Amino acid sequence: MVKICCIGAGYVGGPTMAVIALKCPAIEVVVVDISEPRIAGWNSERLPIYEPGLDDVVRQCRGRNLFFSTEVHRHVGDADIVFVSVNTPTKTCGLGAGKAADLTYWESAARMIADVSRSDKIVVEKSTVPVKTAEAIEKILVHNSRGVRYQILSNPEFLAEGTAVQDLFAPDRVLIGGRETPEGRAAVDKLRDVYAQWVPPDRIITTNLWSAELSKLAANAFLAQRISSVNAISALCEATGADVTEVAHSVGRDARIGPRFLSASVGFGGSCFQKDILNLVYICECYGLPEVAAYWREVIRINDHQKSRFVNRVVSSMFNTVAGKKIAVLGFAFKKDTGDTRETPAIDVCNGLLGDKAVISIYDPQVTGEQVSRDLAMNKFDWDHPRHLQPLSATDLAKQVAVAPDAYEAARDAHAVCILTEWDEFRTLDYKRMFDAMHKPAFIFDGRNVVDPAKLQEIGFVVYAIGKPLDDWLKDMPAVA
Ligand code: UDX
Ligand code: UDX
Ligand code: ADP
Repeated sequence: MVKICCIGAGYVGGPTMAVIALKCPAIEVVVVDISEPRIAGWNSERLPIYEPGLDDVVRQCRGRNLFFSTEVHRHVGDADIVFVSVNTPTKTCGLGAGKAADLTYWESAARMIADVSRSDKIVVEKSTVPVKTAEAIEKILVHNSRGVRYQILSNPEFLAEGTAVQDLFAPDRVLIGGRETPEGRAAVDKLRDVYAQWVPPDRIITTNLWSAELSKLAANAFLAQRISSVNAISALCEATGADVTEVAHSVGRDARIGPRFLSASVGFGGSCFQKDILNLVYICECYGLPEVAAYWREVIRINDHQKSRFVNRVVSSMFNTVAGKKIAVLGFAFKKDTGDTRETPAIDVCNGLLGDKAVISIYDPQVTGEQVSRDLAMNKFDWDHPRHLQPLSATDLAKQVAVAPDAYEAARDAHAVCILTEWDEFRTLDYKRMFDAMHKPAFIFDGRNVVDPAKLQEIGFVVYAIGKPLDDWLKDMPAVA
């Protein structure tokens, strides 16, 4: 029986291993983590992450061939294949701060593998890492090997949160990179055999190590670039009277461009896009390619611009002041169907509104009040965010921020509603009921294009929707750039 151990029971490690266990009953899969509460969560009825369909997969395999444990050393020592799926945040201090990946967790995982291994192992990079990390890891392992042989593979994960199980069941592709030696090729084949249990052979791509590592960064950079492109066009639509949904539809009908991932929004978030692009930018700078670095950096700049543009629109529409006004924020997660708030645009938008002294009431179906407070109090690394996006003190936060149990409570006595996540339930709210309980004029700022502006205008709202022709009210109150 092949034994797999995955270090890191997070958004990537947890779902990926659960699906491998489900599809490969003959393989024993153990997910280990240094965090006791995380592992306890995976062993409980309430999993530590919200992901549609995941409960079902875990219920079928847990205790059969899927295990969650904090006994890191024992399980890593026993495994034939070790996946490493630990966090790789952006460095916040020292060399490359604000851009380079922080590989502290990765390095300590590698040293631990070297310490506890008594048999040959295939070590698989699962978390996104800078190109050439495999080489560094290989050096750590080989220099501490005590006779154990290692093969390093790069097998980047392409799942998106909210659709993780679906993405793992039917991936567009599985990418496996390895050394171009007989031992390297044998290791690639061994991992290919695992995926081949359910993924069609033509969807399993094998490459050299560096191509696999770079493909992951490039894919995320291309995806994020599409969003920044459509968001840049959304600003021009508002200025000219074009409708971004119509433009995106027409553009996406060109088969060379394609229709997906062209929804204008208040900005992209999530743990990958910004981090991976920053990483790419840093790598380009290190290799003496400043023009290429500048090109990709612009994708992040437009994303930051989109968030400030949204805040400016809110403030300028409401007579240039939101001080003391209650604003309902619907949605805090970085996208629908997840409770994850890493890099969510809601953090920057809320901090912008709080900086203008608004009082905000937040409702999100999956994000807890504690998470919201943690995020808004966090001193986010300020690599080039404007000053007004700086977080407030804990005392001001307590005065200015509340979390509501539902959308109606959030909107009661509010002057405005801001929609920041595209949760399906926001499409079918009783907006008349909300309107009746709000101050007038009542505003809606839709950062995700989930509501029908015409219907809401009929109710009496002043409506702003990203990239849509402007309401007459807004034309009279031009947003400051
Ligand atoms: C992303 C990649 O899609 C995935 O392949 C990779 O492995 C990890 O990073 P994820 O961050 O989970 O996945 O979500 P994704 O669906 O890509 O959305 C990222 C952000 O872009 C979200 O904030 C989302 O709301 C936003 N987005 C997405 C848009 O604003 N418009 C779109 O058209 C699509
Ligand atoms: C383009 C558009 O494709 C067409 O829809 C529009 O109506 C007019 O402009 P055209 O300029 O004739 O058409 O050719 P196209 O095939 O788009 O190529 C443009 C340039 O891009 C060429 O120099 C081509 O060699 C180059 N190219 C294209 C690349 O370098 N790489 C590619 O992957 C594709
Ligand atoms: P991702 O979104 O990439 O899955 P997460 O932050 O959700 O990232 O998960 C990474 C997990 O890795 C965390 O639960 C963290 O506790 C765990 N981790 C980090 N370093 C180690 C280590 N050396 N050994 C075991 N687990 C680790």
